[in-house]
Amino acid sequence: MKLVVTGGAGFIGSAVVRQAVAQGHQVVNLDALTYAACLDNVASVADAENYSFVEADIRDRAAMDAVFAEHAPDAVMHLAAESHVDRSIDGPGTFIDTNITGTYTLLEAARAWWVRAGRPEGFRFHHISTDEVFGSLGPDPETDGQFTEDTPYDPRSPYSASKAASDHLVRAWHETYGLPVVLTNCSNNYGPYHFPEKLVPVVILNALAGKPIPVYGAGENVRDWLYVEDHADALLTVLQKGGLGRSYNIGGENEVRNIDLIGMICAILDEKRPGDRPYAEQISFVTDRPGHDMRYAIDPTRIREELGWRPSVTLQQGLEKTVQWYLDNESWWRALQDRAGVGERLGVSAVSETVRETGSGTNGRSPKT
Ligand SMILES: NC(=O)c1ccc[n+]([C@@H]2O[C@H](COP(=O)([O-])OP(=O)(O)OC[C@H]3O[C@@H](n4cnc5c(N)ncnc54)[C@H](O)[C@@H]3O)[C@@H](O)[C@H]2O)c1
Repeated sequence: MKLVVTGGAGFIGSAVVRQAVAQGHQVVNLDALTYAACLDNVASVADAENYSFVEADIRDRAAMDAVFAEHAPDAVMHLAAESHVDRSIDGPGTFIDTNITGTYTLLEAARAWWVRAGRPEGFRFHHISTDEVFGSLGPDPETDGQFTEDTPYDPRSPYSASKAASDHLVRAWHETYGLPVVLTNCSNNYGPYHFPEKLVPVVILNALAGKPIPVYGAGENVRDWLYVEDHADALLTVLQKGGLGRSYNIGGENEVRNIDLIGMICAILDEKRPGDRPYAEQISFVTDRPGHDMRYAIDPTRIREELGWRPSVTLQQGLEKTVQWYLDNESWWRALQDRAGVGERLGVSAVSETVRETGSGTNGRSPKT
């Protein structure tokens, strides 16, 4: 297939690009190269004859029209977004612009091209979204359940609200204009090339640097973690086999409390790069994120039963691969650590105190969970 992948220089988009190129698809990576982008993420495919890169902003209608006219894609996989919850608390405007207006602009460009091309039935606009649109579950898996595709939307952060709005736009363009779409809502990803402001890399890199490992609140918040390569595989599966107009929840059935996830990472580091003392001693509890969702958990029954997709690794296996990748790729993450905001505590503008309990002190890093 000829694919346009938006956000292909980011964390998940680059995993999609690498897999799609390896599968032999013709891939156009479209990315505005914001602070979160890194073209090194796709260096392994940069010279492939079935790969090309276009630096463009999804909010730029003329640029989007030009990409469709030049490449005549069979599908768009739309991952470009502002993705960091803490940044959305400090500056929601960019999230509204990119995630809502940008998705609208891309939808309009896709629709115009699709109509001009004679409304090909096989065309797909694949919108990649998050489980955060569903809001927050109660703490008990037995009584509080999991997110299904029918769970009502209840976003609670500027980030998740902007993603929810974009999901609604994509469904509306299908219902109103007939644009052939599929949607996916995925749980928290982790893995290689994860930008160093997000929780898993922050834990690894602070541990290695001998710095405090920040835990928001009491660390009781539960997330459902999925290895990024498994997400990319699921996305390519949905793109090719998913039902028209249908949405699929993607998750790894790996519910874990933040504090336990951090403990797992510290234990892996203790094995792979032993220090003078266990890394878990660097854990430092900091003021919680305002409006911090308690629990996310995905019911992946639909994608499992309808499309036969399953994750390839357990959380333990994926974390071991991830830690090893960061140990082996120091030049990649060092180059990103001086980008604006990385290493700072973000997303506390609504909170009066920034540090509740410091342990051995905190530099206030800001993991996204
Ligand atoms: N990270 C997660 O755990 C997770 C989970 C579920 C869904 N998602 C969704 O997956 C997608 C990718 O997430 P990620 O973690 O890889 O994000 P990321 O922040 O790592 O990458 C986003 C990419 O989009 C690009 N981009 C941003 N604004 C743009 C614009 N206006 N025009 C063109 N490109 C632009 C950036 O340059 C960057 O390369 C997002 O839509 C996100 O909402 C993420």
